[in-house]
Amino acid sequence: MRKYEDLSVLQENRLKQRSYYIPEGKAKYLSLNGNWDFAFYKCDDDPVPAKTGVIDVPSCWQCRGYEEPYYTNVVYPYPVDPPYVPTDNPMGVYTRTFVIEDVSMKHYVMFEGVDSCLELYINGQYAGYSQGSRLEAEFDISAYVKKGVNEIVAKVRKWCFGSYLEDQDCFRYNGIFRDVYILERPEGHIVDIDIETRGNEIRIRLEGSAKIDLYNQSGALLSSCEADGEAAFTVENPILWNAEKPYLYELVFTSHGEIIRQSVGFVTYGVNSRGAFTVNGVEVKLKGVNHHDTHPNNGYTMTDEELLQDLKLMKQLNMNCVRTSHYPPMPRFLEYCNRLGLYVMLETDLETHGFQNRLAGGTGFDVLNSNQDWIGNQKQWLPAFMDRMIRAYHRDKNNPCIFSWSTGNESGHCDNHYEMIKWLRKTDRRRLIHCEDASRAADTPIPELQDVSFYSRPDIHSKMYGGLEKMIAYAEDATKPLPFFLCEYSHAMGNGPGDVGDYWDIINRYPKLIGGCIWEWADHTYIVDGVPKYGGDFHELSTKGNFCVDGLVMHDRSFKAGTLNAKYAYQYVGFELMENQVRITNLYDFTNLNEYRLQMQIVADGEVFYERTFVLDLAPKQSETVSFLMPAECRLGAQIVCRAFDSSGETVALWERELPAAIAASEKCCDGAEITEDAKCFRVTGNGFAYEISKHTALPVRIEKNGVQHLAAPARMSVWRAPTDNDGKIKIKWGYPNVWEGENYDRIFNHIYTYEQKANEITFTGSLAGVGRTPFMHYTLRYRFFSDGEMQLEIRSRVRENCTWLPRFGIEFTLNSADSTFRYYGKGPMENYQDMNRHVTTGWFQSSAEEEYFPYTRPQEHGNHCGCKRLIIADGLTFFAEKAFEMQVSKYTTEALDRAEHIDELVPNGFLNVRIDYKDSGIGSNSCGPALLEKYRLQEKEFAFCFSIR
Ligand code: GAL
Ligand code: MG
Repeated sequence: MRKYEDLSVLQENRLKQRSYYIPEGKAKYLSLNGNWDFAFYKCDDDPVPAKTGVIDVPSCWQCRGYEEPYYTNVVYPYPVDPPYVPTDNPMGVYTRTFVIEDVSMKHYVMFEGVDSCLELYINGQYAGYSQGSRLEAEFDISAYVKKGVNEIVAKVRKWCFGSYLEDQDCFRYNGIFRDVYILERPEGHIVDIDIETRGNEIRIRLEGSAKIDLYNQSGALLSSCEADGEAAFTVENPILWNAEKPYLYELVFTSHGEIIRQSVGFVTYGVNSRGAFTVNGVEVKLKGVNHHDTHPNNGYTMTDEELLQDLKLMKQLNMNCVRTSHYPPMPRFLEYCNRLGLYVMLETDLETHGFQNRLAGGTGFDVLNSNQDWIGNQKQWLPAFMDRMIRAYHRDKNNPCIFSWSTGNESGHCDNHYEMIKWLRKTDRRRLIHCEDASRAADTPIPELQDVSFYSRPDIHSKMYGGLEKMIAYAEDATKPLPFFLCEYSHAMGNGPGDVGDYWDIINRYPKLIGGCIWEWADHTYIVDGVPKYGGDFHELSTKGNFCVDGLVMHDRSFKAGTLNAKYAYQYVGFELMENQVRITNLYDFTNLNEYRLQMQIVADGEVFYERTFVLDLAPKQSETVSFLMPAECRLGAQIVCRAFDSSGETVALWERELPAAIAASEKCCDGAEITEDAKCFRVTGNGFAYEISKHTALPVRIEKNGVQHLAAPARMSVWRAPTDNDGKIKIKWGYPNVWEGENYDRIFNHIYTYEQKANEITFTGSLAGVGRTPFMHYTLRYRFFSDGEMQLEIRSRVRENCTWLPRFGIEFTLNSADSTFRYYGKGPMENYQDMNRHVTTGWFQSSAEEEYFPYTRPQEHGNHCGCKRLIIADGLTFFAEKAFEMQVSKYTTEALDRAEHIDELVPNGFLNVRIDYKDSGIGSNSCGPALLEKYRLQEKEFAFCFSIR
């Protein structure tokens, strides 16, 4: 048996996990990051390597040209035959030297992350073994080192039995992907530090003895003591830590010339009698996101700066919570959360999802404790499960930001999980315990799962991707005491997510709904020749395509519309319109609203006609009403827009509502235009214009102004859009049918039954049908023409009772226009949809087809604008209406967007593709989440749509 398949060998020589710190003073930190000699073996018993070179550490070898990246989600990248991994097990051998001056000191080598396991040699001597990719491995190498130059060799296997526990949904990378360093420490140094705050006390348990100094955040020394094993400090009226005001004290341990600093926060987490989550006794909603370590060139390897940047962006997006899915992050991540203020759900490195697919056809999520196929139920695997929880706990236990431990993800709720929970329960009463699988099991009507004791039960009822009704039902069920947490929701894949705000409208109503974490923070891609690639691009044996490209921010952390929509769904200022008053609520938990500047604007026809900037002295959760002047009349529409700014000028809250201002009737030209006809067309002419309406399509084939033909192709009615990931349940290619597939909406025929001209009106009747299907829509299209060149189209549609909802409905125009710029009155400037528009306001905007393009990694529908009443193309062609329409202007056709799989495959057709829509359905998050809410679907069975062209 190979060592890495022997369940009894979790480690050799690895030190017991201690709390994370980097000692200073007499201690020395010797970084081993940088270049190592690297030999890559296709199989670990090959006599010679397949490729050698120099590799930078930390890095993932697939990102450095040794093997291709590999993306798989649930399905293991090798057979399910635990604890065995493929006989041909690739291996990377890392070699370098380091220099030691003082051999009287102790020497340790620390690996912060190695995937999948590590065999260590110092100066040719075997020095230890470890597995657990995202956990630390520290070895005492004092006995192996010598004065002067030393050699270190790390043999890293691609797989080990631990790989069965690391089936997280991401690219599968290998190598030494986090920092490596040597610590030189004085003999007798302290080892573990355990800090706990209770009331106004700080209690410390110490492995060793030290002088301890306590400082406040401004660096003032508060008190000192000498401690051997234990110590305690009392702080009078301590300033409490919370995510909004993350006040930290500092403990400085001095021992044998070594100095260790640890941040301390006074914070208590709990659940109150209403089932609400509390921080220092105050009810707090968790506005969170799931964070994976992912970089488009470096895989799992992220620098401190990059991780810090992620966290800063989260704060900027009004987030207060992060779940480390599905493994502990690099340890400094937590110190950044302590400092910036984020509540952390610390999940350990554990997922065994692939057992679900071990049999052909899949077995469903049979994760119950009766199923012995799952390793979570096998005793011989218990040590491996426990090891992961215990190491994660001890590394990170001193971080005030951690409000909850999580036993892992998608691994079943099995006997071994019970043990992990029991251990946590015994060890840490300060934090909550999370285990999503336990909640799945609790929902299963199997008696043995109903009465798990307090000791093996988590504190949170956790769900992923549940619909809103289930959430409400849980919240209203008095027999369910646990707080409800969406450990994953609003799957942020591609264009989206659209539904964050809908969740929050409900979460804000019920104390027991404590919030959740959007899935997930950033897109996972791997860049090849400047093009972001995803699963299926790398010859994987199993993959889930672009399912890894599901971030709220793009792979380069740039924002998309869904990002900002989520920001404003998470905002901490509530606004409510009450006639000519707005009720403003401070939703911060610990911050007076007077730290922000509020602005209220009344806008009519895109012009601000009343503006007020003010500050409200409002304690958390308090409301106040502010009055405004209603505009008397307008031509396009009037809105109230409120914003809140922080002291740096950043907009932290945004809200817009339409005001019921009277809209002045527009003056219509009353003279008709001249209409003639031939076999194929109606011809409409007047002063400076000529239109031709086809009798075969009922639509314009010529729109001529002052001798210029604007149409490059006949206009057409359509209902299709290039599926978003959230429409498509991910790419059809990967086996998920598109929700609309049945009606063949992407291949439709337009049939004209009748046409008739009367004075300045032409009326058509027709139908639209997908290939091979009964018509899904019958319509009447009535034109009216006026001598000033206005062509008005009024469509009345009847949709077949038994067909699915429509992606959208409208008319597509292919325009000749050398100049791709345009102006519009509607919601902007960013793209927006019915359910994704909290980030935009209504007004006049200038844009261009180029600016409207958004580089979703897999090209898809984008660039829609709701609430439009005017669209004026650079050459003067104008689309307008009294009732708002939706529109899109693009360099690309729907077909081109639909066809392309990567951004470099997108080819513009050379025209301006303009879509004037009655409605475009919302976005939702159905790529993994629930179906799009009914209210955002275009599912009316009868509707009327009217707009004009001039
Ligand atoms: C969840 C899982 C995540 C991710 C997500 C889909 O089931 O916990 O890791 O796979 O689905 O993107
Ligand atoms: Mg999974």
